Amino acid sequence: MTLAPERTARPSAPPEADAGPGRTGPAIGRAVDRVDGLAKTTGTARFSAEYPIPGLTHAVLVHAPIARGRIRSIDVAQAEAHPGVVLVLTHLNAPRLTPPPTRMNPMDLSTMAAGSSIAFLNTDEVHVDGQPVAAVVAETLESAQYAASLVRVDYETITPTADFEAELPTAKAVRSMPVLPPTGGKRGDARAAYTKAPVQVDLSFTTPQHNHNALEPHATTAVWDGKKLTVYEGCQNIDWTQKFLAKRFDVPASDVHVVSKYVGGGFGGKSKVWAATLITCMAAQVAQRPVRLALTREGVYRTVGGRTPTRQRVAIGASRTGQMEALIHQATSRKGRVGGEADQIISCSLDLYDAATILAEQKIVELDLMTNTAMRAPGEAQGSFAVESAVDELAIELGLDPVELRLLNQPVDKSPVHGTRYSHRRLAQALEQGRDLFGWADRPAPGTRDGKDLVGWGVAAAIHPAWEFVANVQLTVDATGSATLACAFHEMGMGTATVVGQMVADCLGVPLERVSALYGDSDLPMGPGAGGSGQTASLAASIEKACQAMRKRLDALASKSGMPDGSDPAEVLTRAGEQSLTVEVGADTGPKAMWGQVRFLSKMVMDSRRWMKAATGAHYCEVRVDADTGELRIRRWLSVFDVGRVVNPKTTHSQLRGGIVMGLGMAMGEETLIDTRTARIMNPSLAEYHVPVHADVPHLDVHTLDDPDPQMPLGILGAGEVGIVGVGAAVANAIRHATGRRVTDLPLTLDRIV
Ligand code: MOS
Repeated sequence: MTLAPERTARPSAPPEADAGPGRTGPAIGRAVDRVDGLAKTTGTARFSAEYPIPGLTHAVLVHAPIARGRIRSIDVAQAEAHPGVVLVLTHLNAPRLTPPPTRMNPMDLSTMAAGSSIAFLNTDEVHVDGQPVAAVVAETLESAQYAASLVRVDYETITPTADFEAELPTAKAVRSMPVLPPTGGKRGDARAAYTKAPVQVDLSFTTPQHNHNALEPHATTAVWDGKKLTVYEGCQNIDWTQKFLAKRFDVPASDVHVVSKYVGGGFGGKSKVWAATLITCMAAQVAQRPVRLALTREGVYRTVGGRTPTRQRVAIGASRTGQMEALIHQATSRKGRVGGEADQIISCSLDLYDAATILAEQKIVELDLMTNTAMRAPGEAQGSFAVESAVDELAIELGLDPVELRLLNQPVDKSPVHGTRYSHRRLAQALEQGRDLFGWADRPAPGTRDGKDLVGWGVAAAIHPAWEFVANVQLTVDATGSATLACAFHEMGMGTATVVGQMVADCLGVPLERVSALYGDSDLPMGPGAGGSGQTASLAASIEKACQAMRKRLDALASKSGMPDGSDPAEVLTRAGEQSLTVEVGADTGPKAMWGQVRFLSKMVMDSRRWMKAATGAHYCEVRVDADTGELRIRRWLSVFDVGRVVNPKTTHSQLRGGIVMGLGMAMGEETLIDTRTARIMNPSLAEYHVPVHADVPHLDVHTLDDPDPQMPLGILGAGEVGIVGVGAAVANAIRHATGRRVTDLPLTLDRIV
């Protein structure tokens, strides 16, 4: 294969120490190495399946091979007789738990972590293929594995409904979640405007189901001490997990201790409590022994939700000069009959373009499949593929440059549908800077050949809303001058523990080396979830307040000793004869916690009516398509993002690159295949579910505008999810440019390209 010389774009500009308003000093903006890096790369970091616990036993699940029906009988005699087996837990001997909630209610946080409404091992009903119907606990993992194969279950089966395409006619309108912004919306009469528009594009798209493949498969270690439960669990929401388990096991939340120090990736798949966690806690209670359950890769596919498939239509009507007169985005997603939520597939169409009329609406189908769940930019990832592909097609129809078309239709200061003002909006700058850095002016003619390859360049825009959650923090400064920030936040590998140190250092005015963070443990003040790209901004808000309060107390102490304001904390404390000072900041905790939550939610609702806050970005790529085989190679990638202030360019850019890599997975190979007759996932392994490998991913040249958002804490918009948005479309648009073929179905495999 002939390879053209690599084009190299300018490297990222060096991070500026202080890029705008807000209190920043020498730590924020620095590319600091991750504080957990050494522990993770040397293997000393302890994940939830790695805690050494005396008397530990091992559990293995028995999965139902049917998708709908009832257990007629279950024979555990052989399994129980197997050497080393401690317990075989089934619906006949499992403890009765408080029934699971049937829907999420943001006013009752114990409902938020319910992965489904199935009462695992408390029912003889089977609702999904792979549902655990028994768990074998043994002295060794091998003993449990073998004994699990000896459990005999006789089922009465009901034919499942699992064909998404066939069930589309049964789709119902999506009800918006309470408190959250409404799903969909409209501006004017888009249907009428579309009919009258001189230039029209109307395309249908499909995206398949995707499943979670975090490096660390879900694992739980559960220990009961009388009525107190300790759970070692890599999760994205310690608070929800604690409240959910307390409710189900009918114990006070303070008696459930969740330890989640290291998490090997989450991506949304660890923001809920799934069957295995619950069953491990049940087994430990009955066995009166510590129990560990580490899911196999297949176990994750069978018991943890994935990303919903979609069917979408995007119709855009425009004037001959490219003004969008109508933008219609209609989508159908799916949930499980036993739970799941509607990903906001169409929400990106509300804010990408200032079309004169807009219609965004979504429906949902219920099937006998595992519930869907959050997966990196749930909704925007799928929706952006459709809308950004259709915009590209419109540009071709108009004979306009696709970057120009996007710039021409940018909203200026207000969200076109809801009328809320943008806190700031830099998507046009991201598009322009990307265009210049990529060298878009040299874009080859469509269908240009290089040897037997066709060369194509593609562009797409990205948007993801910015979120903020409650973060209770405790800040302690001691007489040695060390500052410790304690909060039950989550470090899943994205660098949160590192940037927390940077924020504390600058907000308090102490050197970074003196700051450390305690996190990942429910004994610490309640932290925000690691979701919605909102964890860092949420922490920033409370860190700023805590540091201000601490500074005030230090200055008061200093003046007593005749020292000036802003004196070194170590000296202030030493002269005052104090060992340490502690301040706490955040929503109310304890019995008043609910009011804290109410206040927070009302602030969030008021805020969302006032401001539209979002991270945005622009992707540029070059692909090569083998003209004979359709083989696709991504040759060059450059993205420019506006994620507000960049606290740490190293971790932020890594997050954005990770998002792009996951987007390339969506584009090139990821697809969960379901046998619609049995409602069973056919490819539950990394051998048959293709995630991108190094050979699939070129150097990802990532840039950030580093422009603090005036309405977000420390100006931070969040970087975890925006990276994946638009990636699929950028690749599809490059394929269109190379081959003349518009591929509207993900993944973009060679059978669809040729
Ligand atoms: Mo995310 S999909 O909010 O981890």
